[in-house]
Amino acid sequence: MQKFQKFQGLLVALLLATTPIQVLAHGDVTPHPIDTSTLKPLGDEWIEPNPYRGDATAIAVGALGYMHNCAGCHGLNAVSGGIAPDLLLLGKECLDLASKVKQAACMKESDHFFKEVTLRGKKNGEGRSIMPAYDAVFKQEAVWAVKAYIDSRSLEEKAKNPN
Ligand code: HEC
Repeated sequence: MQKFQKFQGLLVALLLATTPIQVLAHGDVTPHPIDTSTLKPLGDEWIEPNPYRGDATAIAVGALGYMHNCAGCHGLNAVSGGIAPDLLLLGKECLDLASKVKQAACMKESDHFFKEVTLRGKKNGEGRSIMPAYDAVFKQEAVWAVKAYIDSRSLEEKAKNPN
């Protein structure tokens, strides 16, 4: 019995270790909607920069949305495994700037870039989709919640490695 339990534990560990790869291998990258009902509604007119930046509830909602939609390619906790670009670099570039004014302008630009890529997705040189478009399932509440989460991760990383 004990032996069996050990074996089961091993199986679970193996499954966990291979899950992100399987997600990719099976091509299950269907965009999943995010429940943003706990967040302040933003309306249909796009607001830039991200109005949710620093909002704890939005960060939590965005973290879940990120897990379900982006982590398979961009990595758990937004730490890239090398399959897709490191999204933490977007915020790092801004946080490395000395002046707060420049940082804010940089963040606004990064918000815009992030929104455009997320809504449209990405195609490779041959026109094959390499990142799905999220415009059919993400309203701006969802886009900004995920960005708020990624920015909060960039801040955490910056706090760990100030230079
Ligand atoms: C199927 C894999 C896949 C999924 C799922 C995916 N991405 Fe991507 N993403 C990519 C790839 C590959 C690129 C790089 C494309 C290129 O080389 O131009 C990319 C690029 C990006 C970029 C541009 C980064 C840069 O520095 O140029 C952003 C922003 C981005 N993704 C956000 C997201 C978000 C947010 C999600 C989830 C809502 C997501 N992606 C889901 C594969 C994916």
